[in-house]
Amino acid sequence: MVHSDDSAMYIGLIGKYITKNIENILSKIGYSDGLLVESILTTFKSDGFHSAPIGIKRLSNTLFSKIFKDTDTYVNLMKKPYAVANLLDDIELFYITTFDELPMDEYDEVIYKTGIKPLRNADLIIELYLEEYSDFKEYIEARFKIIGLIIRRLRPCYYTRCKHAVLESLIHSTRIPIFKEVNRIEFEKLMMLINHYSQLVNRICPEDPYKRIMRAIIEKLNSNY
Ligand SMILES: Cc1cc2nc3c(=O)[nH]c(=O)nc-3n(C[C@H](O)[C@H](O)[C@H](O)COP(=O)(O)O)c2cc1C
Repeated sequence: MVHSDDSAMYIGLIGKYITKNIENILSKIGYSDGLLVESILTTFKSDGFHSAPIGIKRLSNTLFSKIFKDTDTYVNLMKKPYAVANLLDDIELFYITTFDELPMDEYDEVIYKTGIKPLRNADLIIELYLEEYSDFKEYIEARFKIIGLIIRRLRPCYYTRCKHAVLESLIHSTRIPIFKEVNRIEFEKLMMLINHYSQLVNRICPEDPYKRIMRAIIEKLNSNY
């Protein structure tokens, strides 16, 4: 006998632009209420689009993000309050968007309601409007209204320590240059963690993409990117 849960019934929704029953659908496909997921968030910039890894927490039918003011994403959102959250399982894209601008061929040709092209490799696309935000000294807490979503792909989920270790290292690497200047203790703590993850990756992960990306992160940190 083949077992399946009722997420299979959402296969009929794949590729459709969904605007109704959003809370229920998000829960069914695993984006539970209260869960923070790591997205690649695309915003408008003056001559196209900009993508960066940003965490988004779901609370009912709304998404919240803490966005630091020293990011391009913040600057872009202040000019045009639309975004697309791309949910995807692609550590390489997280790596590229942490440090560089994503090449245009990583974007899809289709455009939905926001006018922002989603990423070709996104499994779930969530179109967002920045409804309001709380202003703190170094960051804003943004509240996004969900305009619509597109489920591109449902695929088996699995855990791997490799993805976790590289993703954590990437996040830490974005804060290290700042802490190096203003908080030596935090700087050393994050460097120690990256070192720990690097040893883990060397021990249990394949070269491509994990060891390669870990080496690149450490090289960037050593060269004070
Ligand atoms: C997995 C991951 C999650 C991140 N989440 C956030 C976040 O929620 N808010 C934020 O301001 N920066 C976050 N960052 C850091 C930014 O993506 C990083 O500073 C980026 O280079 C700057 O964004 P920008 O390209 O818009 O300037 C995250 C980085 C990673 C790797």
